[in-house]
Amino acid sequence: MSQKATTTKRDGFSSRFGIIAAAAGSAVGLGNIWKFPYIVGENGGSAFIFIYLISILAIGVPVLLAEFIIGRRGQANAVRSFKKIAPNSKWSAIGWMGIVAAFMILGFYTVIAGYTIHYFILTITNSFAGMNSADISQTFNTFATGTTLPIIYTIIFIFLTLVVLFGGVKDGIEKYSKILMPGLVGIILLLVIRAVTLPGASAGIEFLFKPDFSALSMDAVLDALGHAFFSLSVGMGTMLTYGSYISKKENLTSTALSIAAADTLIALLAGLAIFPAVFAFGIDPTSGPGLVFITLPNVFLQMSGGTFFGALFFFLLFIAALTSVVSIFEVIIAYITEELNVGRHKAMALITLAAIVISSFCSLSQTPNSSLIFNGHTLFDWMDLLSANVLLPIGGLLIMLFVAFIMKPSDLEDELQQGAKSIKGTMAYLTVTKFVAPVAIAIVFLTGIQALFN
Ligand code: TRP
Repeated sequence: MSQKATTTKRDGFSSRFGIIAAAAGSAVGLGNIWKFPYIVGENGGSAFIFIYLISILAIGVPVLLAEFIIGRRGQANAVRSFKKIAPNSKWSAIGWMGIVAAFMILGFYTVIAGYTIHYFILTITNSFAGMNSADISQTFNTFATGTTLPIIYTIIFIFLTLVVLFGGVKDGIEKYSKILMPGLVGIILLLVIRAVTLPGASAGIEFLFKPDFSALSMDAVLDALGHAFFSLSVGMGTMLTYGSYISKKENLTSTALSIAAADTLIALLAGLAIFPAVFAFGIDPTSGPGLVFITLPNVFLQMSGGTFFGALFFFLLFIAALTSVVSIFEVIIAYITEELNVGRHKAMALITLAAIVISSFCSLSQTPNSSLIFNGHTLFDWMDLLSANVLLPIGGLLIMLFVAFIMKPSDLEDELQQGAKSIKGTMAYLTVTKFVAPVAIAIVFLTGIQALFN
């Protein structure tokens, strides 16, 4: 299977739909369905959504496009692409940071991803029947702070991502994304229909779409900027790696816009699947991270057809996490196979081993009296904070600066020109965002690191 990258054609995506399914698969994850609704809930609803949309256009899309440009120009993994475009420079450090961030995100993300399997099983077997809300909350806390069960589910989850990764880019990632992503859209639409047809659903719809700017704080604006970044999976070379698999026929600008649109639409649909139901049963929408695992089981318990829709919801969350974790793995696989000349399957085995070790420690750091708590944060929190608040913003900032000021303008225009009728619009957009995005990202970063110290 593993042939030398130098002698054979590089694996890559075979169709436009395949690219969008795979990259949207990376972008659409726990961030969209677990985090976006709860930060909307905490920050007062639709005014927050408005700021989020601006953030996507001002910093998310430009960095996404920049990653695609670097990857397709470099035709290699995140480290080598920089070396090829800017030889004898230090810019490939961005790729290195991306590899470190990939391991960190794998560490905590696969733990929550494992929860989705457990919750799928709990709902489909109707295990919450007869529980009150204190019992449901207790169920979650007992499970998440346990020493074995969460680790077992995390390992099962990691093995399932290997199934997708096994066949490579075209016959693995692309093939599965083309089935899983339409499936995800179908499921989310079913859940939205169920939620908005509940009696009393309109209060939830109003909460999402009626702007109340008085509920908006400065923190909310920073949350929106930071989340736009995380939600598009940018800043660590994921989209760069996927970009290196995009054929020269494709228009990168329209591809990036389609992916951002899909990511945003699915986050909004997740809100529409959750809030109308939460309001219909008179439950508090501002419960934070527990929204999905504590609030929602209460909602499904009261809803007619709740067992079915509850199981469907956790299956949705599972698919969303799966295609995201696949893309994180792929960053490291591309690096190891191309730089160390190791076969794909051997690389997968090595990364799996490392991922299991890191995520087990992350999970164990949540057990009572764990010794994996440093400076008041669990190892799990550190992995999250260091990647999302430090490495991704620095990576995104440098990626943006690289494309805007280091790459030869003729190379940049050449990449944008492929498959495009005119690049006037894109160039105008980049002219503005190449200044706006770095400044906004720097602000997010500077406020984000404060969270590390309190
Ligand atoms: N975008 C993913 C989500 O919304 C999370 C994420 C952030 C990610 N960075 C990534 C996923 C890099 C894959 C690769 O849940």
